Amino acid sequence: MKLPVYLDHSATTPMDPKVLEAMLPYFLENFGNASSRSHVYGWTAEEAVDIAREQVADLIGAHATEIVFTSGATEAVNLAIKGTFENYAEKGNHIITCVTEHRAVLDCCEWIERNGGKVTYLPVDEAGLIDLDALENAVTAETILISILYANNEIGVIQPVVDISQIARKHNVLFFTDATQAAGKVPIDVEEDGIDILSLSAHKLYGPKGIGALYVRRKNPKVSISSQIHGGGHEKNMRSGTLNVPGIVGFGKACELCLENLSQENEALTKLRDQLERELLKIDGTKINGSIKNRLPHITNIAFEKVNGDNLLLEICKEVAVSRGSACSSVTSKPSHVLNAMKISDELALSSFRFSLGRFTTLSEIEYSYSTLSEIVEKHRNIVKLSVVKI
Ligand SMILES: Cc1ncc(COP(=O)(O)O)c(C=O)c1O
Repeated sequence: MKLPVYLDHSATTPMDPKVLEAMLPYFLENFGNASSRSHVYGWTAEEAVDIAREQVADLIGAHATEIVFTSGATEAVNLAIKGTFENYAEKGNHIITCVTEHRAVLDCCEWIERNGGKVTYLPVDEAGLIDLDALENAVTAETILISILYANNEIGVIQPVVDISQIARKHNVLFFTDATQAAGKVPIDVEEDGIDILSLSAHKLYGPKGIGALYVRRKNPKVSISSQIHGGGHEKNMRSGTLNVPGIVGFGKACELCLENLSQENEALTKLRDQLERELLKIDGTKINGSIKNRLPHITNIAFEKVNGDNLLLEICKEVAVSRGSACSSVTSKPSHVLNAMKISDELALSSFRFSLGRFTTLSEIEYSYSTLSEIVEKHRNIVKLSVVKI
């Protein structure tokens, strides 16, 4: 078994070897620019991009023409929020989001505020869910966009996406959801779910890093978004720049594999995650953060009481790779804004860890993880007890 056991798939996933295999020809022999219209090198690249666009669209029930390739979800989120804000400026300048969003969304919302817009940040309850009445009450005549995460990257809790979209439709407001963690893990259908704009990223679903996409609805309603990267007019003028053909091919293949195995993988991950959770909960003073009713199959966030989170993490990381908060903030010992929003104390938030499993996680890795963790936590509790006795 390779140590530390990798249980940080929400930060990034290893690439599926089948994805790498699909990408390889597009680095060397098929290196053409997908925008070169005058020769076979370009046509070959364009054809590969067209296939991948279909594969990405299929994963979320969209049409290929509704997919805009970006460098990842962060860029897709920027395009969604800033691009809507600019394009719908005549209609209004108000956006509704939620306090537990990923930093990509929160930072874009702060940018909106600095640029003359208004943002309402909805709170969440102790389960991590928004209140639908509060959402509806927050809508004003100026509201142009509701931006609510599909599933949270720290606790895996899935927001009531269909209810949110119904509120958005009722008030003629666009609904954007950052589905970076949910795509490829749970079934998503932009038509059935009533989603107008959606972001996703290849490296969270066994594809390569540096490639993502934004889904932009083409009818009922047709959504228009102002480009944030200007240049040669690629991606129907929404995102200029030479397309990352190998990345796009890999992204497409990764989406195809996720779709093919969605229900079996969901079931297998749920089983492993539940076993990990059951065993970890046998340790005294542990609890799950967030709702367990509607959540992603591969994430659990566990709080360990009465231990020093920093010290615990230093020891755990040699055995099991987990994280505290999102990858962008896991090195800091600042409590997670998501856990804080759920009224979890700073102390407990700092000794809470996200375990996220993946396609290649094995039962023996899970068994190793919980037995090692139980020993480490017990040892740390004893250290804390001893230091209290000394004082
Ligand atoms: C919910 C969510 N949104 C956006 C991102 C950013 O994705 P990317 O790394 O593709 O920019 C992440 C990555 O952690 C995420 O979890």
